[in-house]
Amino acid sequence: MRIGVLTGGGDCPGLNAAIRAIVRKGEDVYGHNVLGFRYGWRGVIECETVELTTESTRGILPRGGTILGSSRTNPFKTSDGVARVMDTLRREHVDSLIVIGGEDTLGVAEKLGREGANVVGVPKTIDNDLSATEVTFGFNTAVQIATDAIDRLHTTAESHDRVMVVEVMGRHAGWIALYAGLAGGADVILIPELPFDIAEVCERIQHRHRRGENFSIIVVAEGAIPVEGTMTLQSGETDEFGHVRLGGVANRVTEELMSRTGYDTRVTILGHVLRGGTPTAFDRVLATRFGIAAIDAAHDGAFGSMVALQCGQIVRVPIEDAISELKLVDPALYDVASVFFG
Ligand code: F6P
Repeated sequence: MRIGVLTGGGDCPGLNAAIRAIVRKGEDVYGHNVLGFRYGWRGVIECETVELTTESTRGILPRGGTILGSSRTNPFKTSDGVARVMDTLRREHVDSLIVIGGEDTLGVAEKLGREGANVVGVPKTIDNDLSATEVTFGFNTAVQIATDAIDRLHTTAESHDRVMVVEVMGRHAGWIALYAGLAGGADVILIPELPFDIAEVCERIQHRHRRGENFSIIVVAEGAIPVEGTMTLQSGETDEFGHVRLGGVANRVTEELMSRTGYDTRVTILGHVLRGGTPTAFDRVLATRFGIAAIDAAHDGAFGSMVALQCGQIVRVPIEDAISELKLVDPALYDVASVFFG
């Protein structure tokens, strides 16, 4: 069999571990031939390929990013995009395409599956917002990087009696903010799921300072939104999937905090730092397990399925189950974190 592989959307640590696993089992165990597509769906539309072998994928397990490259190209956004994808798959004799992606990339895979493409999905995203899997790889690494940063900000905040506002990625879901905030002992955590009132945030911080603490840490997810009418935000450009470029809510929170409380406040936007560098051991193991399960699914002809983690086991679920609804943070976990607020 000839198996195609692509990585689409925002990159994340663990992608190379997944590619390596697909190639190793595909070639060494099944005797399949693995073809990589460069830059996500763009590489399928434009037929930009690279042969993947056990030899060419040696040494990539701990490497961040993706050796295939990635993009946010959406074949459904151009009139001939889908036809070109189908044409490439036919011309390159691809029997099955393993699509490693988040909500958008897998959304395209699911639609193409309905048009007859033989797709298998692998969930990845630092945001951890895909349903049907308990966790996506990339998330654990992002949380660890954010936690390390918060620990570092803690000591300098203490030295200078400052409020530190830390912005982390998390467009629709606040998983990274919540986990890193919990692990780093945040005094307030703002997430997209719960619109915040800046007056309440200031009150919590003032309450903490009245109790004798002279510094505070506020963790903000980039997608956090104020309660309507309480604070303005600037909006940016949109990508091919219609998402606005985020980044900046923490700046506004910082300005408001300074002017409303007079506390010396600084902002740190972690942004793409959370997506870069070497994956944690957890993400390497999860990505490897997903990669092995994906090549098994392709070999078995389990098209339209996505590999997922459920109760510690790798299972197959319909891709549709992962993308039909975003996995938002568990309110009970937010309640745990909020015990430590203010
Ligand atoms: O991949 C998801 C994500 O990391 C989001 O959290 C973030 O909003 C987005 O990617 C940033 O995308 P880009 O790298 O295209 O700026």
